[in-house]
Amino acid sequence: MSLPEAPRFVLTVSSNKGGVGKTTLSANLAIYLRALREELPILLVGLDDQGSLDRMFSIQPREPGAKNLKHGWAERSLAGVIQLGEYGIHFVPSPPDVALLKARAEDPHILRAILARTAWPGVVILDTKSDLEALTLNAFHAADRILVPVADWASLEEAGKTFRTLENARLDLERARVVLTLVDRRTRGGEEGLPLAHLLQDEIERRGWPLYATALSRSPRVEALNSASGRPLSILHQARGTAVHRELRELAEEILGDLGLGERLPLPPRGGGAGWSEAPEADAGEEGAELGAETTPARRSWAAELLGGVLRRL
Ligand SMILES: Nc1ncnc2c1ncn2[C@@H]1O[C@H](COP(=O)(O)OP(=O)(O)OP(=O)(O)O)[C@@H](O)[C@H]1O
Ligand SMILES: [Mg+2]
Repeated sequence: MSLPEAPRFVLTVSSNKGGVGKTTLSANLAIYLRALREELPILLVGLDDQGSLDRMFSIQPREPGAKNLKHGWAERSLAGVIQLGEYGIHFVPSPPDVALLKARAEDPHILRAILARTAWPGVVILDTKSDLEALTLNAFHAADRILVPVADWASLEEAGKTFRTLENARLDLERARVVLTLVDRRTRGGEEGLPLAHLLQDEIERRGWPLYATALSRSPRVEALNSASGRPLSILHQARGTAVHRELRELAEEILGDLGLGERLPLPPRGGGAGWSEAPEADAGEEGAELGAETTPARRSWAAELLGGVLRRL
């Protein structure tokens, strides 16, 4: 019996350092990728037991005994545990604790095989726990791209451990990419008082690690979206006009280009589909001004693009 086709792309988000924005990046990247490429279904899988992805995406309150990642792992396919969530994102409910799962993940190739059998037709995003243990190793082996968030010198050193782990596992280092996160443009360091983000960038280049050009700003708005209520909220839907909104869109486009999916499709209608809006929010808030952010440039509507295409062909 031949195995079904593997998912088109698997992105793993990983850092051995806690609190560098892995889950925020995974969840919001899912939403931006979905908005930019409506034809590409996105599946989010959290390999930890914090439940933040469930809180953000679940539409129904969780039923006792509902299936989660643990069941998918046992069934060797996620097909029976995937749920459609908010923002048109599919997700796999997290297990209440990952200790059992970890014990069943000693072979680092299991998740890759599970994803191959699941045959998800679009992008799978794996959000990992802040460790380099069995589940994270499985996520490395399954990944086409490994996004390594770096927010400061400590997480930069931890990124070094990720690269060494990949090397030890004989995985191609080229599949990993550093993403600067939680960047506060006002923080300076070094003898010359240069912006921290520049110093980190120089060091990453010196070490020869691939780096996405787009850095994500630290934003009080994002902090509030994540923590002001029990349900974290989407940056795309709630923080339009801010620097971090623009950056996430750029990063999503950079990743699509990196995966060979750079061709732009017409945008969904305003207010429709996955919720992409062409115009910045009226009150972009102080953050944009504070960080010197530009607002999202106005773009032609999808209808205008289509019409333009038709007219050009006539
Ligand atoms: N761009 C941002 N601006 C401001 N705060 C942010 C940003 N991104 C994440 N945060 C905040 O930083 C904290 C850690 O974020 P998050 O949970 O995404 O990190 P993590 O790496 O997944 O953490 P863990 O290691 O616990 O899984 C949270 O309080 C979150 O709200
Ligand atoms: Mg997390």
